[in-house]
Amino acid sequence: MPGSWQQERVINRKGVKKLQLRRESFATKFGVVAATAGSAVGLGNIWRFPYMAGENGGAAFILVYLLFVFAFGIPVMLSEFIIGRSARKNPYGAFRMLAPGKPWYLIGLMGIAAAFMILAFYTTVAGWTLEYLYQSLIGGLAGQNGDGLASMFDSFRSDTLRPVLWFFLFMGMTAAINFFGVKKGIEKTTVIMMPLLFLILLVLCIRSLTLPGSGEGLRFLFHPDISRITPSVILAALGQVFFSMSVGMGTLITYASYFPAKDNLSGTSVSVSVTDTLVAILAGVVIFPAAFSFQVSPDQGPGLVFITLPLIFGQMAGGTFFAALFFILLGLAALTSTISVLEVIVTFFIEELNLNRKTATWTASAAVSLLGLLCALSWNDALRGLRLFGKNLFELLDFTSANILLPVGGFFIVLFVAWFYSRKKIRAELSNHGTLKARYIPLYLFIIRFIAPIGLAIIFLNGVGLIRL
Ligand code: PHE
Repeated sequence: MPGSWQQERVINRKGVKKLQLRRESFATKFGVVAATAGSAVGLGNIWRFPYMAGENGGAAFILVYLLFVFAFGIPVMLSEFIIGRSARKNPYGAFRMLAPGKPWYLIGLMGIAAAFMILAFYTTVAGWTLEYLYQSLIGGLAGQNGDGLASMFDSFRSDTLRPVLWFFLFMGMTAAINFFGVKKGIEKTTVIMMPLLFLILLVLCIRSLTLPGSGEGLRFLFHPDISRITPSVILAALGQVFFSMSVGMGTLITYASYFPAKDNLSGTSVSVSVTDTLVAILAGVVIFPAAFSFQVSPDQGPGLVFITLPLIFGQMAGGTFFAALFFILLGLAALTSTISVLEVIVTFFIEELNLNRKTATWTASAAVSLLGLLCALSWNDALRGLRLFGKNLFELLDFTSANILLPVGGFFIVLFVAWFYSRKKIRAELSNHGTLKARYIPLYLFIIRFIAPIGLAIIFLNGVGLIRL
């Protein structure tokens, strides 16, 4: 089968099944935004954002974060959209097509590798959300104090069976969606899951805001103390923007390759970025007022969601219900992200190895599961000794993908569009061949030529310790 075009069985008017060559695409504008925002909204928003904000000065961190969404996040996202929709291929194939005979395709390959790594550790955490959903339903979280919940988290993570089973269940749920393809799998499920996610988030916000003393938490979130903006806070915010917005590894190149030709790329990038940012802030509105109300410290890292929050839920009226609702929220958010990462590998397998979608999906999930199995067992006695640079496998994959592969990928993606891709084609893609005005193009070009590459270079050099800010 040639390139990105796939054989599809369609039933014609006479009811006869026929094979047709057609590349998949999203059917509706809402589908495009739901799927892409679904990729962006995930554990990064609900688990990582609040804890990063908690550790880095709250409102001051959020202020810098917002600035960077506009200065870096949206421009890099638009660059991925341009590459994806003009090439209509997986990240590797896209670079080969747009820059034939040049080594840019290595960026695409790095993105595929990043997809494997992210999916392995991300699905491990997603599996934990299922365990915690189960525990909240059977009442396992109720009546525990902080120490009890901390040792429960530790003994669960180091168990031989449970983290692995939940990993496979989550991976299976992810694969089952990708199996049905872009329209019938990804689009059909995300247009339901994303509104549901919003609804749950709003219910939880109301619960948190009606707790006594919740104003303290809001002050922490929305009253910036400018003196807390230090160079390390700036870098933390920059890293969080890239991870949260799914930029830098080709997920958005892949999704944009399915965008309809008439989709307004800048409109979509703004809708997705606003949704992503809103969910992160609303997650903060759920967590901080509750934490301040029950006087628990909000800067607990991975424990914030799995130890501190159950502690808070255990003390509030209707806690079991709200705990279950919270872990459903976390699981849904994770699922709409894992399908986007798996899709990167699936599309690559379909187009470069000439597999059909079903075989590609199972092969990709099985390959990721090998790495994921080791990841889910990172705290187990058998593997806990396996350490490199002081990190276990899970921590190593998390660190390498977020702090190295995404910034490097993002850096080269903007560099490619800004300095090597044809201006005419950029304009054609952003204006839908002259049918949209797109007056922002000069500003976009200025940002991707100068501001974004320099910003990304700073995160990367700091991430690998070459400079210390
Ligand atoms: N953006 C996702 C989140 O916030 C994570 C992700 C990163 C997804 C990179 C795809 C690519 O959870």
